[in-house]
Amino acid sequence: MNNILFVTSEAHPLIKTGGLADVAGSLPRALLKLGHDIKILLPAYASALIKAKDAGIKKISQISIHGQDINILQTRLPGSRVTVLLADMPQFSEREGNPYCGPDGNDWDDNHWRFFLFAKVAQMIALNQTNMNWQPDIVHCNDWQTGLVPALLAQTNSASTPTPASVFTIHNMAYRGLFSHQAFAEMDFPQHYWHHDKLEFYGQMSFIKGGIAFADAVTTVSPSYAEEIKSPEFGCGLDGLLRVRAKNLSGILNGIDMDEWNPGSDKLIQQNYNQRTINLKVKNKTHLQEKLGLPVSETIPMLGFIGRLVEQKGIDLLLEQMNQLLTLNCQLVILGSGFESYELALRKIALQHPDKVSVTLGYNEALAHQIEASSDIFLMPSIFEPCGLNQIYSLRYGTLPVVHAVGGLRDTVIDANSETDDLNNGFVFNEATSENLHQAIKRALACYEQPQQWKKLQINAMKQNFSWEKSARLYEEVYSKALRNKAEA
Ligand code: ADP
Ligand code: GLC
Repeated sequence: MNNILFVTSEAHPLIKTGGLADVAGSLPRALLKLGHDIKILLPAYASALIKAKDAGIKKISQISIHGQDINILQTRLPGSRVTVLLADMPQFSEREGNPYCGPDGNDWDDNHWRFFLFAKVAQMIALNQTNMNWQPDIVHCNDWQTGLVPALLAQTNSASTPTPASVFTIHNMAYRGLFSHQAFAEMDFPQHYWHHDKLEFYGQMSFIKGGIAFADAVTTVSPSYAEEIKSPEFGCGLDGLLRVRAKNLSGILNGIDMDEWNPGSDKLIQQNYNQRTINLKVKNKTHLQEKLGLPVSETIPMLGFIGRLVEQKGIDLLLEQMNQLLTLNCQLVILGSGFESYELALRKIALQHPDKVSVTLGYNEALAHQIEASSDIFLMPSIFEPCGLNQIYSLRYGTLPVVHAVGGLRDTVIDANSETDDLNNGFVFNEATSENLHQAIKRALACYEQPQQWKKLQINAMKQNFSWEKSARLYEEVYSKALRNKAEA
């Protein structure tokens, strides 16, 4: 059994902008269940402090980094026994809103420094320098925000200071944590770290490179994405480094919180249902239609979309084929927030077609659950998708996904026409074009008209097991490998 420090910039339900939070809020619970002593380290955002209040917050340590006093607070992940350590400094605790940007949507201009300080806190805990009397043997870091931790730990490896092994998980290569050389100069890295096989990236500093170059093992969130990022098309300029690290790079599919996303007991939806009572699912649809002001009809197929409105999610494909889609007999329900141009385009379509399209802009957890439960078909035409959780939630809710065959979507959705039959659970198109998306939607709509075949696919989808247990065991193997690599280094 290992002592694990799980370092992350988001963890549901304390703070969330996307799937990273879902993973950080559920994988540690699975690892705890397997007997590990795991603690999450999270920045003490203002909003996270409010959400943690009920579980109780106590100060367990105070440290000083670059002349700044930083408190380490301890709480629990709400609804679990997992310990959460909060790195408390004004750069996080005295700012409202999003972890990465201000209310105006622009990145905080000191992001490099905030996440550098956060990484230093992780380093000090890792080296048992915080009077906590607890030392991890594994430090598991996630995405660019924590990329400097393995780089810092690589510096401190000596016989007198036992250093834990580091694991770095890539949730999204598109966010490389790029900052100026000036940012690098402010930090206390040795000069030779300014090199293209370390932290330098075409004249800039890249945080994610710290994780990829220095961690004892690197993982990403699906087997297909682990392959894809070694190619120029998906590697975001880091495919060369990833090929160098290929022996220590693996893909582990994300699990989901099977309790939180359970149509049988979900408190956020109108009507609970399961595989046996799947006929009740439609009550969610009529309820949502009423709520959103769409014509109420049990038979009209409802297409759902939930996600960050960014290029990754294939919004362009969706928009390009919108006019054709609007000629078909269906309703479209969208929930998302992101780029203004996408928000404006979607809002316009909803205004022009109030009888067919509903668009809700913003972040709304309850509505996300309701759309999963109500829709018949879920659209996820992502251009790239490291894992993707919404298609998995859709499968669990018997809402058949239409997806581009890429990354985690390829690893979780099997086309209705495949020979696997009992595993078929959705509609997959190969090349990311709007025409291919449209044809896949048409196939899904045609299949919806065949109730028997549709129900079979729904049952296939709902009976799949996406619990964390299997993936948590794969992470255990990675931890062992990281420890071996560290011992041999
Ligand atoms: P990504 O992490 O790339 O955003 P994922 O599919 O892995 O994509 O995870 C997205 C998570 O964020 C899901 O839990 C999804 O329900 C949630 N989500 C995304 N946008 C919204 C929104 N506007 N309102 C509520 N939940 C959202
Ligand atoms: C990222 C990816 C998404 C993945 C999530 C959790 O945000 O875009 O595909 O599911 O992280 O790993």
